[in-house]
Amino acid sequence: MSNAFKKIILQSTLLAAAVLLPAVHAQSTGKIKVGLMLPYTGTFASLGNAIENGFRLYVNEQGGKLAGREIEYVKVDDESDPSKATDNVNKLIKRDAVDVLVGSVHSGVAMAMAKVAKETGTLLIVPNAGADAVTGPMCAQNIFRSSFSNWQPGYAMGEVMAKKGHKNVVTITWKYAAGDESVRGFKEAFEKSGGKVVKELSLPFPNVEFQALLTEIATTKPDAVYTFFAGGGAVKFVKDYAAAGLKKSIPLYGAGFLTDGTLEAQGADAEGLFTTLHYADSLSVAKDKTFRLSYAKAFKLQPDVYAVQGYDAAQMLSVGLNAVKGDLNNKAEFAAALGKAKIDSPRGAFTISKSHNPVQDIYLRQVVGKENKLVGVASKSLTDPGRGCRM
Ligand code: BEZ
Repeated sequence: MSNAFKKIILQSTLLAAAVLLPAVHAQSTGKIKVGLMLPYTGTFASLGNAIENGFRLYVNEQGGKLAGREIEYVKVDDESDPSKATDNVNKLIKRDAVDVLVGSVHSGVAMAMAKVAKETGTLLIVPNAGADAVTGPMCAQNIFRSSFSNWQPGYAMGEVMAKKGHKNVVTITWKYAAGDESVRGFKEAFEKSGGKVVKELSLPFPNVEFQALLTEIATTKPDAVYTFFAGGGAVKFVKDYAAAGLKKSIPLYGAGFLTDGTLEAQGADAEGLFTTLHYADSLSVAKDKTFRLSYAKAFKLQPDVYAVQGYDAAQMLSVGLNAVKGDLNNKAEFAAALGKAKIDSPRGAFTISKSHNPVQDIYLRQVVGKENKLVGVASKSLTDPGRGCRM
């Protein structure tokens, strides 16, 4: 190669670098666009709002910036509809050019988001949906969860109910990933401890016509019932269970979503119910005390588990961003920082597993008045098995 030709190649390489540099620089110093893909209508609307409130609270506490970069929001109402999820997430990535995806509540929606996030390499933080696959077969360097896997509260309750001496249990839930996996986690622990799930009842999401299934529970006469419902559906289920006269004769238990953020609406029908979850209303966690005061002041509302998960999604983003000095292209460093981090959560500090799911205490709670009062720790530092995850 002649010297003149080498010079031309060198000059064009330098020119290309000069053109590219400002773009790369801009990506680590400009605003960060956060795409909030959450349900703002339907049975999970209040869950979506609480997650957004929690996320914004943490960002506002940092002066509206994370790692020195201002946070800008783009919002999409996903309606908890998996059939619209791929289009919605593609719009956020392609039309709105978001840097980070935060969503969603519904497991089916979150799985569609995880697929696109994996294909495009976009950072995704799941602030609720427990779909086991997200931190199982779909796991990836750029996908994290600030909440729980469906398996976790279910498994913890299986152990609790077996210890309480229940032998024959009926399960009832919505027929979709969250319900199926919650019941599977419950059954795994309950049957390992000698119990038997005698009937698995379900209805399509988000139906709330429970009557025929309640009649079937009454005729089956199990020792107890385990359930997964959340949001508006949980309110109706608890009220219908009591109205059918079952609450007095067949004790009702659930993953804690049954009574979280729902107690105002459920009233006396929820009194005394036992549930398992990674949050409770009366924790003696210093971070929880300040969080609850700040949340109530900012939103004139009491926080719930969803608000905590939103707050922690923002904390996780902050930890990763600080480690990479605001440069979201540095995915390996971002993931490594979260792998070493202890997140100072209102639920109590937690770490993040190899498959990017919280390793956390699952609490046993009981409804007393308008609170999910702490009874004790049902499962200490429970780690989702992350089955099928190959990073
Ligand atoms: C889910 O679909 O994963 C889910 C929805 C509401 C509460 C908990 C889990």
